[in-house]
Amino acid sequence: MKILVNAGPTREKIDPVRFISNHSSGKMGYAIAEAAILMGYEVTLVSGPVSISAPENLHKFISIESAAEMAEAMKKEFFNADLTILCAAVADYRPARPEKQKMKKKEGNLFLELERTEDIALSLGSRKKAGQLLAGFAAETNDLEANALTKMRKKNFDFIAANAVGIPGRGFGAEENAITLYKADGTKKELTLKSKKELAKELLEELLKR
Ligand code: PMT
Repeated sequence: MKILVNAGPTREKIDPVRFISNHSSGKMGYAIAEAAILMGYEVTLVSGPVSISAPENLHKFISIESAAEMAEAMKKEFFNADLTILCAAVADYRPARPEKQKMKKKEGNLFLELERTEDIALSLGSRKKAGQLLAGFAAETNDLEANALTKMRKKNFDFIAANAVGIPGRGFGAEENAITLYKADGTKKELTLKSKKELAKELLEELLKR
């Protein structure tokens, strides 16, 4: 079985020295990739900029920076994957006109125009073929279940791991995490708070239960 995972944040350039990003450390996605390798699967990892090391024995490691680069890599790799897990925190917006030179400060406020990035999950969901499985994450600060189920339907996911963020000690940047896994068959499974490595193994066991 071939497994494709994405992880980490994206960076959207404002100018050559500034960017918009988020607090994803890559730990959850890297833990999933590592657990899948230990289970004997062929794993490709597409990663935004993080400060942790890639797991050993990856089939392929692709390093990207922006949402556009992530989209390109994921669309290229997706056709070959039996299971794809979208754990990356991809920016929904990017500066509409990134500056070529470092911006100088001026008097008064600065207004930055942002444009939408590609929704990679949506693009992959619409390309999914029979036999391919697609799992997403939903990082939510409120209305976890309703928002997660809406995302699962809209993006044609087979599973969505709903991740309550904004709670200290879990989610973005933390060593531990807890998720509620919703399945397209209408069932759900609580995966309680534990190290991201242990959680990754439990998550994969659930995704691959047939
Ligand atoms: O990296 P860590 O510090 O370990 O933290 C892990 C995590 C909190 C980042 C991870 O567990 C998580 O929840 N990742 C998804 C974060 C997110 O962007 O969620 P979302 O609800 O905005 O997006 C929903 C789904 O669509 C996600 O699978 C996301 O990868 C995908 N998406 C979103 C936007 C976009 N432009 N393209 C996408 O593919």
